[in-house]
Amino acid sequence: MYLLSGSSNQSLTENISRITGIPLLERDIKTFMDGETKILIRNPSTLQKKHITIIQTITNSAHLIELCLLVDSLKSSGISKISLIAPYLFYSRQDKPKPGEPFSPHVIIKIIESSGIADITFIDLHSKKVEELFTIPTKKLSTISLLTNIINKESVIVAPDKGGVERAEETAHYFNTSLVHITKERLEHGKVLSKLEEKEIHNKDCFIVDDIIDSGNTICEAAKTLKIHGARTVNSFCTHGILSKNALPNLKDSELDHLFITNSINMPQEIKDFDKISIIDLAPLISKTLK
Ligand code: R5P
Repeated sequence: MYLLSGSSNQSLTENISRITGIPLLERDIKTFMDGETKILIRNPSTLQKKHITIIQTITNSAHLIELCLLVDSLKSSGISKISLIAPYLFYSRQDKPKPGEPFSPHVIIKIIESSGIADITFIDLHSKKVEELFTIPTKKLSTISLLTNIINKESVIVAPDKGGVERAEETAHYFNTSLVHITKERLEHGKVLSKLEEKEIHNKDCFIVDDIIDSGNTICEAAKTLKIHGARTVNSFCTHGILSKNALPNLKDSELDHLFITNSINMPQEIKDFDKISIIDLAPLISKTLK
């Protein structure tokens, strides 16, 4: 097997290659002035009948196009099988379309499948509904085991909204801890309002689990609600750190003590240096599935 990295998360692929010893293919990816991508796989004649695993986090349309181009350049090299590991897959939150809206994750998954990959591995995808849209074989990786040194038996696991209840229940069950639910109401301009179910969290160490942190509003509001109800500490683990505009100032001013995220999305230095955030490397977890 060989690994091939898209441009979205090269450091993660390099870590995986180092751990597994699986060689990384040499390739050039260039972007023209008009935004078009040019791909070149080096030494394509050596790849005949080989199995290639592409690692590409897909956070924007350019990453998706790049993936399709990488697959096409491999297909012309006579390889036997192309697998994809997509640590993060965009559009998966738009899984409840209203009349007149597209079923966006389905559209994205159809594009990925039509590129010609044989199977896909994903990590903490937003919902079961999205997982079930794939028609090619899938492998699902869970990050729960990465929390072993972070969550202790005394922690109270918190679901920050209805969509996160199953994930929080699974975490609470895994660590044999108690669980509380928060209900989230989305207000105008991305603001959210959190309400806590009637449970005693006074002086407890609360741990919010979620799949994604984007603006940070969900987690910051949940942390505020938990502290108002007497929580001693509030920490959080969100697998995918989108951390878009305002997320850092939001987190800085919030009641959240610490945030753990993974490197499913490549992090800029500003986030790596942010003292309230720790980044957990996914490379050991992904490497286990490749051995
Ligand atoms: C929503 O369903 C997701 O699970 C996250 O709770 C949400 O995407 C977080 O977004 P934000 O950080 O902008 O509140």
